[in-house]
Amino acid sequence: MKYEINCIGILTSGGDAPGMNAAIRSVTRAAIFHGIRVKGIYHGYKGLISGEIKEFQTQSVSNIIQQGGTILRTARCKEFMTEEGKKQAYETMQKEGIDALVVLGGDGTFTGAREFAQDFNVPIVGVPCTIDNDVCGTDYTIGYDTALNTIVEAVDKIRDTANSHERLFFIEVMGRDAGFLALNSAIASGAEAAIIPEIETGEAQLEDLIQRGFRKSKNSSIVIVAESDITGGAMGIASRLKETHPEYDSRITILGHLQRGGSPSAQDRILASRLGAAAIDALLEEQRNVMIGIDDDKIVYVPFTKAIKDDKPVDLALMEVLKTLSY
Ligand code: F6P
Repeated sequence: MKYEINCIGILTSGGDAPGMNAAIRSVTRAAIFHGIRVKGIYHGYKGLISGEIKEFQTQSVSNIIQQGGTILRTARCKEFMTEEGKKQAYETMQKEGIDALVVLGGDGTFTGAREFAQDFNVPIVGVPCTIDNDVCGTDYTIGYDTALNTIVEAVDKIRDTANSHERLFFIEVMGRDAGFLALNSAIASGAEAAIIPEIETGEAQLEDLIQRGFRKSKNSSIVIVAESDITGGAMGIASRLKETHPEYDSRITILGHLQRGGSPSAQDRILASRLGAAAIDALLEEQRNVMIGIDDDKIVYVPFTKAIKDDKPVDLALMEVLKTLSY
């Protein structure tokens, strides 16, 4: 069945990411440019179910490109996973005259989108927004670059006090189960090591890392630890160290949600502007149920099924770079 798209709904779902607002602006302005009406759906899929919707004009998205967070608010919605929830969401779309959806978020958002699109034959296009960078089929997700810069700024500050006291710091960063933020922030901040879920850190590796980090020519040591049950986080690693090396005066910093806030970097604003506009192009080209990605600086359309596969690899060669440079 061919859809004529006169009106789209846009929503943000899952964890927020800096640059989401820039993407909302881009989708809205590109749609209006092409004569398509835009309705902003608040609180993600929850608002699609309950009908929390407002018509957007060009000026509705003025002055937001530089703002972190999302003006549409966000939520993680279990109800949308139920038959009843999806049915209500579809009824809202019909009532509001929404012909297609543009959804901004990560793999959870696209999993919901894929099922909804299959069950109700609704055209949906996704835009990858998450600080974790763990979405397959795109080199970068919106928010990742800003979060990386936020981490590096924080680590630089911790380095000052680590140097003064000649201490070892374990700094925990976000990433859910992916090590992109940890590994690249370790390289960018000149950290001594990174512990990521993709590489096992056994006792021998931990010992090697400590020996290298504490060699005589250095007077502080920073280890970036990716949050994850696999790594045990900064607390887990620090307590393992305490057992074997009680002599070390180590400290732990968990950066937490500050990594998700702040004004988006120029890189994220540009990425959001490109991917958002491409989402409208994709709908006009009758693309259905795809995520817009960036691959080798080119726009690509990635089927939701591929985007939500849980196997985006970190470049392990980067670990060698880190080891070489922190020697
Ligand atoms: O997916 C983004 C993210 O910030 C992850 O890095 C983190 O594990 C998770 O969200 C935290 O979620 P919440 O804000 O719901 O605690």
